[in-house]
Amino acid sequence: MKIFSQKMQISAEVDELKAKQLSVGLVPTMGALHEGHLALVKKALNENDRVVVSIFVNPTQFDNKDDLKKYPRTLDDDVALLKTVSKDKILVYAPAVEDIYEGNTVSQSFDFDGLEFEMEGRFRNGHFDGVGTIVKRFFEIVKPHRAYFGEKDFQQLTIIKKLVEKHNIPLKIIGCPIHRETSGLAMSSRNIRLKPEYKKAAPFIYKTLKAAKEKFGTKSAIKVSRWVENEFAKHELLKLEYFIIADTKTLKTVTRKSNKKAYRAFIAVYADDIRLIDNIALN
Ligand code: PAJ
Repeated sequence: MKIFSQKMQISAEVDELKAKQLSVGLVPTMGALHEGHLALVKKALNENDRVVVSIFVNPTQFDNKDDLKKYPRTLDDDVALLKTVSKDKILVYAPAVEDIYEGNTVSQSFDFDGLEFEMEGRFRNGHFDGVGTIVKRFFEIVKPHRAYFGEKDFQQLTIIKKLVEKHNIPLKIIGCPIHRETSGLAMSSRNIRLKPEYKKAAPFIYKTLKAAKEKFGTKSAIKVSRWVENEFAKHELLKLEYFIIADTKTLKTVTRKSNKKAYRAFIAVYADDIRLIDNIALN
């Protein structure tokens, strides 16, 4: 498996592949790869001749220095895991911060038509400017035909689609469903940091999302939200940051339900100092 750390080299390699008429998919990640990431890689391999997996813990999207410092970095394990999927069709791009930011580790400012002010944008200052900066950079370096993102970060997926549309970037964004552990907990690189009692408690998040979906069939968004807030208020270990029912397209919090619109519930929870997010389609 070829591993690249320099943008010039990965760019040149992809140019060569494209000159041979091979299609190229891109799966951007921050590493500490798990089955959720692998599902994206497998889908990308099904739809492209070659797949670039980028592994880069992007400093500009972290509003919390401690979270950035503690974010797991497991490149050797990640490469080994990718080899179990394909030895010859995956290219890894794992740059250093310098290769990407060239001594100026700041993000560009983006206008995502308001999508960036909802949910994660409200609770994580500057997060989507950081995500937009790095993802746009990867698109420019790799120039893939298709790029793959998980619905686990549904707001991120929506924002990336907006980025591509607004900047006329010639590639297709493909969304992939959320991969869960058998307990229902959405897979996340942060899960390995959960202490045993929190790991045991965390499936409560998805259990509550499923119950909220059920209730949304007959109850108002406000009533469902209050119910969820109350469930978490009673919980001894998990702290709710937000639970929001939003329009799938605009990501704006729903005030009055319409049966012509699609809704999704979004949640962010603290398990100790680890922040977990999840979401579910409601209709
Ligand atoms: P990271 O959290 O590593 O996730 C990389 C990709 O894997 C994202 O598109 C994410 O939505 C997807 N993913 C993570 N867990 C998943 C799960 N359980 N099921 C399905 N997909 C899952 O998201 C990022 O990195 C970064 O913000 C990035 C886009 C790489 C920019 O730095």
